[in-house]
Amino acid sequence: MKRSLAAFITLAALASNLYGYSQEERIKDMHTMAQALANVQKGILYNNRQLVHDGVESLKKASKNIQIAPKSDMDYSSTFAKSQAENIFRYAAKVGTSMDEGKKHAALTNYTKVLNQCVSCHNKIRKWQNQ
Ligand code: HEC
Repeated sequence: MKRSLAAFITLAALASNLYGYSQEERIKDMHTMAQALANVQKGILYNNRQLVHDGVESLKKASKNIQIAPKSDMDYSSTFAKSQAENIFRYAAKVGTSMDEGKKHAALTNYTKVLNQCVSCHNKIRKWQNQ
């Protein structure tokens, strides 16, 4: 009895942790990422590594928060969102290492890869075209 109650509480905590991400929080993270990307681009153009690094860190941090709650069992948007967020993290890190190695073209390629993740999620989940 005690054990099942504990299991229930753990599950409830997990669920609220997973999907306790409000729309407001998501929009805030989106703004952070948009600003971070702008700074990364500026940093590459101005040859300002610090600006690139700050942008990369901010992208990595905000992308870790992104979640989309599934609307039904068949809804795979939360799995999709998770992989998009992981890709943002990975490509953002590559922007940083490329910049450190003085490879601006590679940094820019990875910057574009980050942007592609943003746009594919917006196309799929947000469906910009319908708004
Ligand atoms: C997993 C899906 C997903 C990914 C990945 C994603 N977004 Fe979004 N984005 C959304 C959703 C959903 C909204 C709509 C906000 C809402 O209503 O929750 C949004 C909205 C936005 C907005 C508009 C916010 C507003 O004020 O209306 C901006 C800007 C934005 N995203 C930037 C980005 C950037 C930059 C990236 C990539 C670094 C990104 N997004 C990646 C799902 C995503």
